[in-house]
Amino acid sequence: MSLVQISGLKKHFDTVRAVDGVDLDIDEGEFLVILGPSGCGKTTLMRMIAGLEKPTEGAIYIGDADVTALPPRMRGVSMVFQSYALYPHMNVFNNIAFPLRAQRREKKFDKRAIREKVESTARTLEIDMLLDRRPRQLSGGQRQRVAIARAMVTQPAVLLLDEPLSNLDAKLRANARDELKDFQRSSNITAVFVTHDQIEAMGLGDRIVVMSEGKIQQIGTPQRIYDDPANEFVATFLGSPSMNMLSVDGHRMGFRPEHFLPKTLNDKPDNSRIFHYYVKRVEYLGSDRLIYGYIQGHDNELTLAKVPSNVRAALAVEGDYEFAVHNDDIKYFDKRTGLRIQPVEAN
Ligand SMILES: Nc1ncnc2c1ncn2[C@@H]1O[C@H](COP(=O)(O)OP(=O)(O)O)[C@@H](O)[C@H]1O
Ligand SMILES: [Mg+2]
Repeated sequence: MSLVQISGLKKHFDTVRAVDGVDLDIDEGEFLVILGPSGCGKTTLMRMIAGLEKPTEGAIYIGDADVTALPPRMRGVSMVFQSYALYPHMNVFNNIAFPLRAQRREKKFDKRAIREKVESTARTLEIDMLLDRRPRQLSGGQRQRVAIARAMVTQPAVLLLDEPLSNLDAKLRANARDELKDFQRSSNITAVFVTHDQIEAMGLGDRIVVMSEGKIQQIGTPQRIYDDPANEFVATFLGSPSMNMLSVDGHRMGFRPEHFLPKTLNDKPDNSRIFHYYVKRVEYLGSDRLIYGYIQGHDNELTLAKVPSNVRAALAVEGDYEFAVHNDDIKYFDKRTGLRIQPVEAN
């Protein structure tokens, strides 16, 4: 069942169309990831859901109620910001208690109720032993958990997380990602997580919403988005290295570097497209060899192959080889609109 419904949502700042017509249903208990490059409107979209930004057009419903005109604290939504600034002069307890105290008059929380809520939220996030510390006495990962506790303590229906892991170093980040997913599963909260990092998006999302220039490009499971991209933007935004794109017969043809392999390794030669490939450079990445080269007839379109290291085939610089891609792994796109089109007959 969908908990949040967003319809025709726009936010224009003068001539900048930060969010430009978004329709989106978010299911109850879902971990939804919004993925897109910097400046595509992710934060603006989140701020409108939270009630911090007034839409230019469109409506937001949460649990069937139109909340478009409601102030943030009446929406049952909490947001953790990219710079989840904790109050430096307050200890962890008071940081987490802050939103409860702000709501005290409406909700009539007494001191004991506040203490109980703070302590139980802190236990859930395993920071209950840190309640007396100041933020500067915490590690990056601990601070991040305090910020999530502060957002969760009011028991929101929806938790909005705007690039909350971007301040952590790589190792801590993978760890925090794991913890966040576990926490979301066990609390069953509806979470919307914003990131520009495709690896983070693929790892966390039940579904991913890919955005570009204020518009949704595609919504789907990580696998769907990766294997079945709706357009050239989605096809090339996900995947590292990015999908190879060649101009062929008036359209665009794409295939991923991991699907572009020496012909000798191909198990379906009858259902594959064969290419003559000139190797210009080879990079050893440990688990893979990354090959840079050119397909005959495409001298201006650098084409990459990602060959697993357990494939011993000799691939020498300045060598010419036959490479192949399964037809199933080749995607075609309209040259003008970038939209996916039906497979085109191989010639
Ligand atoms: N308050 C504002 N005034 C004017 N332009 C803004 C404002 N907030 C965001 N923008 C612009 O809207 C676009 C989307 O910004 P934002 O939502 O922050 O993107 P993202 O979070 O995806 O990086 C950008 O071009 C940004 O410069
Ligand atoms: Mg942002």
